[in-house]
Amino acid sequence: MERRTKVIAIANQKGGVGKTSTVVNLAASLSARHRAVLVVDLDPQAHATLGLGLEKQPGVSLYPVLLGEKPIEDVIQPTKWTNLNVIPSEVDLAGAELEFGIREDRLVMVAAALRPVKESGAFDYIIIDCPPSLGIVMTSSLVASDSVLIPIQAEFLAMDGLALITGSIERIRRSVNPALELNGIVFTMVNMQAKLTQDVVTEVRNHFGDKVYETMIPRNVRVSEAPSMGIPVVFLDPHSKGAEAYKAFGWEFMAKNPTRFDSPAPVAPETPAVPETPAVPAE
Ligand SMILES: Nc1ncnc2c1ncn2[C@@H]1O[C@H](COP(=O)(O)OP(=O)(O)O)[C@@H](O)[C@H]1O
Ligand SMILES: [Mg+2]
Repeated sequence: MERRTKVIAIANQKGGVGKTSTVVNLAASLSARHRAVLVVDLDPQAHATLGLGLEKQPGVSLYPVLLGEKPIEDVIQPTKWTNLNVIPSEVDLAGAELEFGIREDRLVMVAAALRPVKESGAFDYIIIDCPPSLGIVMTSSLVASDSVLIPIQAEFLAMDGLALITGSIERIRRSVNPALELNGIVFTMVNMQAKLTQDVVTEVRNHFGDKVYETMIPRNVRVSEAPSMGIPVVFLDPHSKGAEAYKAFGWEFMAKNPTRFDSPAPVAPETPAVPETPAVPAE
């Protein structure tokens, strides 16, 4: 079986749009489907680290690897779940914007740090949780990635936010990483009963076509409760509306991003990959 590791940055310059929830639950869903996953938490807030049940620990992050002080193998931590590993974040990463901003190799530093793990083929997916800014950490994460997944909320000015990040992707593609692709756009915290939501979803789908994932993640209180328990909602409450949506999203993601090339693309067994009623929360 041939396996080609895919590096996916989950990015949006805006905070609170569901990036970390998507990182944690996509990673969990893929690991449950026997895909080996490494989450790289590059947000100094360390919400992905905590959401996967790990504590922040000084010296255990990509930071010392970026400084050349530790090999990357030393900072990869297992979680409680099979196939699900994480490079945690720590507070030192908060200084990285300033500290690394003057480094000549700043654009390629994350790519260089991840290269041994990517080339080892130990993982199917390396999923990077980016900080909410268009700064050096996010930019160098995009340079290190094969594709960028953008979680967005269906709200006023969503298209403007998308223009900012797709503009960054385009600039990186034209300069340092010509292979960088837009992986897709996934709607989070959706309430399809709202007229504005329907309008924004239609507008974004018209503009970005099949780059928009069919699966939409509904607003669901269980998704927001799970992080405090350190358990991804897909494991904590697998039949909640939020978990069902993230599992369906995991299937759709796997089908669109195959990493193993001797078997046909995976198909969900009993449930359809797309929920029939995409996003009506029952709370
Ligand atoms: N589908 C959802 N339903 C309800 N709350 C959600 C959902 N997705 C995320 N949240 C909550 O919204 C907040 C922001 O989400 P988060 O994933 O941390 O976004 P980001 O990483 O973009 O800042 C968090 O408190 C999170 O628990
Ligand atoms: Mg976050």
